[in-house]
Amino acid sequence: MNISIIGTGYVGLVTGVCLADLGNSVICADNDPEKIKQLKNLRMPIYEPGLEDLVRNNAKEKRLRFTANIKDAVESSEIIFIAVGTPSLENGEADLTGVENVAKIIARNMNGYKLIVEKSTVPVETGFWLTHTIKVNLPKSRRERLTFDVASNPEFLREGQAIRDFMNPDRIVIGVESQRAKKLLLELYKPLRAQIVITDIKSAELIKHASNSFLATKISFINAIAQICERVGADVTKVADGMGLDKRIGRAFLDAGVGYGGSCFPKDLDAFITIARKIGYDFELLKAVREINQAQKRHLIKKIKDVLWLLKDKHIAILGLSFKPNTDDLRNAPALEIILQLQKEGAKVKAFDPQSMDKASRILNDVKFCKDVYHAAKGSDCLVITTEWNEFKEIDFLRLKKIMAQPIIVDARNIYEPQELKKLGFHYIGIGRANGK
Ligand SMILES: NC(=O)c1ccc[n+]([C@@H]2O[C@H](COP(=O)([O-])OP(=O)(O)OC[C@H]3O[C@@H](n4cnc5c(N)ncnc54)[C@H](O)[C@@H]3O)[C@@H](O)[C@H]2O)c1
Repeated sequence: MNISIIGTGYVGLVTGVCLADLGNSVICADNDPEKIKQLKNLRMPIYEPGLEDLVRNNAKEKRLRFTANIKDAVESSEIIFIAVGTPSLENGEADLTGVENVAKIIARNMNGYKLIVEKSTVPVETGFWLTHTIKVNLPKSRRERLTFDVASNPEFLREGQAIRDFMNPDRIVIGVESQRAKKLLLELYKPLRAQIVITDIKSAELIKHASNSFLATKISFINAIAQICERVGADVTKVADGMGLDKRIGRAFLDAGVGYGGSCFPKDLDAFITIARKIGYDFELLKAVREINQAQKRHLIKKIKDVLWLLKDKHIAILGLSFKPNTDDLRNAPALEIILQLQKEGAKVKAFDPQSMDKASRILNDVKFCKDVYHAAKGSDCLVITTEWNEFKEIDFLRLKKIMAQPIIVDARNIYEPQELKKLGFHYIGIGRANGK
């Protein structure tokens, strides 16, 4: 099938290369010429495990190409995925300017039947507006002749394992309102042999917002339980294990910590709360989820202050900058907010992250970026784990203890065993754990 993907970011690039790998002819288009230039030279603009090899192979086989010419991408394909960013506006609404702009370009350059697929996360009823925008922007002379369909096909991949998720999805959601659109998308996804949920467009749009909001709710729920655990001397990791074995609940997303971040949950919750209000429902539950998430960061700062007293001129090492492991994505990463707060109180911050230091150095000021964990820990009064990269699980603690000014570990992701670190002579502070007050 001839496919184009408009918006070649984390979602667009992964979707494009995976669909190419399934044997389709794919054009990835973006309005960022620098990004396209990089990709044409087979340099990856993002870090995602396995991405580079897959892009190289498919580009070599001529199933995948890149362009900054969106008109060309539209003309050359029957199925067009819109995968542009949908960031938050100041009032919490999703900024759909990119989606609208792409819709206009598609309309003006249609040269035959097109299936336009929403891949970006968008609020319910975007499908209606997408259809409307395309209709009103079709050249008058061709309005009678040109036919098109709009479909919703939200993406559920997780950064850090995006290719695996795309190729082995839990489910594929297809929101369609025509048999032709349904047939095309079923054929496209047939090789994945995944469970497919077919529905109307609005329900498909809602499945995405509802899913992300539910996952964020689980995180805030366990963070609230962590607060209770700290007050009574229980261990939230054990509570989560005990809860998670119940099949109706499940263990995933029950890890207490510094709260969720990333490019999706915060903005999707904001957008869902806002669209709900617009259509007459006050989504108080999600407002509480959001507030608990914010409070968790303030709580972490308090924990650091409780153990270091004043932060002014204290040396603090931050391990992990990306919002989660195996990605270099820093959007809404909790570590960034923590660092800014620590700096505001006068602390001197050193940091190490396996993948995102380049990007971080363009955002953060006065942070000393270190070549490894030990370089960051040297002379530090406190080490804070803000992202649970696997390599942080294999630290040589004896070496660490020798080089730190004070052997204090604030484990904001609960990746260590408190008793083991205590035995090694560390002051261990976790989240929602008996000795984590
Ligand atoms: N990142 C994730 O894990 C994830 C997962 C599921 C869904 N989503 C959703 O997918 C969408 C894209 O997310 P992302 O993380 O890939 O964002 P991204 O910022 O990495 O990529 C978006 C790309 O779109 C391009 N773009 C913006 N406006 C454009 C336009 N008018 N024409 C052409 N290109 C344009 C940008 O240059 C950028 O390369 C968002 O709606 C997001 O919520 C993201």
